[in-house]
Formats: sequence, structure tokens, C-alpha cells
Amino acid sequence: MNIVIASDHAGFALKGVVKAYLTEKGYTVIDCGTDSEASCDYPVFAKALCKEINDGNAQLGILICGTGIGMSMAANKVKGIRAALCSDCFSAKFTRAHNDSNVMCLGARVMGEGLALELVDIFLNTPFEGGKHLRRINMLED
Ligand code: RB5
Repeated sequence: MNIVIASDHAGFALKGVVKAYLTEKGYTVIDCGTDSEASCDYPVFAKALCKEINDGNAQLGILICGTGIGMSMAANKVKGIRAALCSDCFSAKFTRAHNDSNVMCLGARVMGEGLALELVDIFLNTPFEGGKHLRRINMLED
């Protein structure tokens, strides 16, 4: 599975931690930036990540900013993207199982590395349940 990851300056350090973790686990990671802690605009990086998913280059994405909120707002503007802001394990599990989310947003200023990596594991390893949930997702696309 290919994973695409992106952050702004506030999420840059955590992006590096998540990227190293995923690479160690054998995932192919596409990194859409940013490349330093210099101040930048999160919508730019959210848009780049969403393009990788919509082009079929990655199946799931992880966006990181200070709160995760700006990234989730930006990503959810893009057709075909279902981005979920997660800060607990239950949400990370059920946004895959019920919403078929293809992007998880994390707040680097909200949580530590340990929780972030736990959320990443859950998000990447929980399958979509389909059934009635597919009908609802199709309604989102309409
Ligand atoms: C950057 O200071 C911060 O506003 C950004 O990372 C993010 O939290 C926005 O939602």
C-alpha cells in the first residue's frame, strides 16, 4: 500500500516521525512536503496530498498541522476526499470502518508521538465495512 503524507511547518517534525515509522513497516511513503519548519500555508500541502490520492498514486493519506483542523478543512474541499480529524483511537477506527475515510488529519500540537503512531496504525489497518455505509458515502459524493 502506498501512503501519502504532508504537513505544514507545525506538523513537520511529527511528519518525519510518522514517515520513518511507516517506512520501517514497509510502506511506500510519498512525501508532499513541507520540507522545513519555515512558516508555510497548509492548504498548499493538503491540495498536493489530495491530488496524489485522486490520481491513484496512494490509497490513504495523513495530513499534519498544528491542530489538524486547517488540514481537514482544506482536504474536505476536494472532491473524492473524505478527511477525518482524529485524536482518539475509537474515531480513527470508525472513520475507516464507517466513513471509508481516505485521509486522516492529526494535530501535532495536540498529541504526542506515541498516540499519533497508534492512530496511524489503527487508521491504516481498519477495513471499510461497506453495506449501508457505502450508500451514505455515495450520498456525500452527490
Ligand atoms: C500554524 O500556526 C497553524 O495555524 C496550523 O498548523 C494549523 O493548526 C491550522 O489549522
